[in-house]
Amino acid sequence: MKALLLENIHPDAVRLLEDAGLEVTQHRSALSEADLADALPGVALLGIRSKTRLTAAVLAGATDLLAVGAFCIGTDQIDLATASALGVAVFNAPYSNTRSVVELTLAEIIALTRRLTEKDRGMHSGVWDKSATGAHEVRGRTLGIVGYGNIGAQLSVVAEALGLRVVFYDTADKLALGNARRCVSLDELLEVSDVVSLHVDGRPSNSSLFGEKEFSLMRPGALFLNLCRGFVVDHEALRRHLLSGHVAGAAVDVFPDEPRSAGEEFASVLRGMPNVILTPHIGGSTEEAQADIGMFVGTKLSDFLADGGSSLSVNLPQLALPPASGSHRLAHIHSNVPGVMAEINSVLAAHGVNVEAQLLSTRGEVGYALTDIGIDYPDEVVEQLREMSATIRLRVLS
Ligand SMILES: NC(=O)c1ccc[n+]([C@@H]2O[C@H](COP(=O)([O-])OP(=O)(O)OC[C@H]3O[C@@H](n4cnc5c(N)ncnc54)[C@H](O)[C@@H]3O)[C@@H](O)[C@H]2O)c1
Repeated sequence: MKALLLENIHPDAVRLLEDAGLEVTQHRSALSEADLADALPGVALLGIRSKTRLTAAVLAGATDLLAVGAFCIGTDQIDLATASALGVAVFNAPYSNTRSVVELTLAEIIALTRRLTEKDRGMHSGVWDKSATGAHEVRGRTLGIVGYGNIGAQLSVVAEALGLRVVFYDTADKLALGNARRCVSLDELLEVSDVVSLHVDGRPSNSSLFGEKEFSLMRPGALFLNLCRGFVVDHEALRRHLLSGHVAGAAVDVFPDEPRSAGEEFASVLRGMPNVILTPHIGGSTEEAQADIGMFVGTKLSDFLADGGSSLSVNLPQLALPPASGSHRLAHIHSNVPGVMAEINSVLAAHGVNVEAQLLSTRGEVGYALTDIGIDYPDEVVEQLREMSATIRLRVLS
């Protein structure tokens, strides 16, 4: 089987797929829609990052494609609905850069609390200022985490280890880790926090979640960090509160409008402000995270090929059945309509084929069944299963 990897995927992933028996072709950059369509016939696995757009038209022409690995966090670049309808599994790496974001957040909390940016700038321009005014320890200060998901929860644990008190607010029910305390509202969190750090997801309703009202409710002299999504924060309002001194400092990694390429100028009303750390969306950008993404997504792809496992798939129903020796596995992706399992099992029963293990999962309009059967079965079994009107894709794995 062939794998096509675009956008300079980590060498660990290449090795992993080659060890799994795939013939791997690599390109350093993304391909245009037309070039990608030309390259995909004969390709079973496609690996991309954020710059390759996988459209409905390209997917429709890629009849040999079984799975796509997004070697990144986001999957907005892939037409997921079409991938599901065609039975193409999509995997990403939702947790691989969690720790990297947490470490940058903590580094920035300490840097802002000690006003390191100002001391650094002073030293580079020849100013020796040993004053302690405005510099604090983080120990004993209260960190308010908005969004207690993968990143927020890990930040909570590591921040407590540094002696910060942690409060959090999340719209979903979340287990409070360690000594963290849940706030019933965002307002309550803003009232008690010395540092406010945003870690919500990118759902559309979070647009402008944090603006004039929220900055006004922050404690005077508190710090503000956003390493989640640019559109969540009103930067004009942040600038006003920084200028007035109500917000003592800020670290911002994500912006409503980010340059598309390295040559494009970065424009922001936050440029040039004192005690403001601006970073170019690098929260998750570490070599460790890149290596982890390579191994994580590479393993998901090779498991899907070998035993049909789809756990943590972004689009297909999630299934995991331990590999069984001495049997064949039917991996059947189908339309989620009544009677499919009865039809599969009646085809097997009609040919005297015993089912040794079977699992079904559904997600929206798609169903996925893994069925382990003995190795001796007539060819018509596979033909008849393939001909079922609900069948989207059938693979026989041994
Ligand atoms: N800066 C970077 O390079 C970088 C890297 C990785 C992730 N991120 C971003 O960080 C964010 C968090 O990632 P994650 O993996 O922890 O996501 P996650 O989905 O695990 O957690 C998000 C949490 O936010 C909560 N939430 C959503 N809307 C909310 C609201 N209005 N108020 C309170 N809680 C709300 C959700 O219930 C969830 O618990 C995402 O937006 C992600 O895109 C940025």
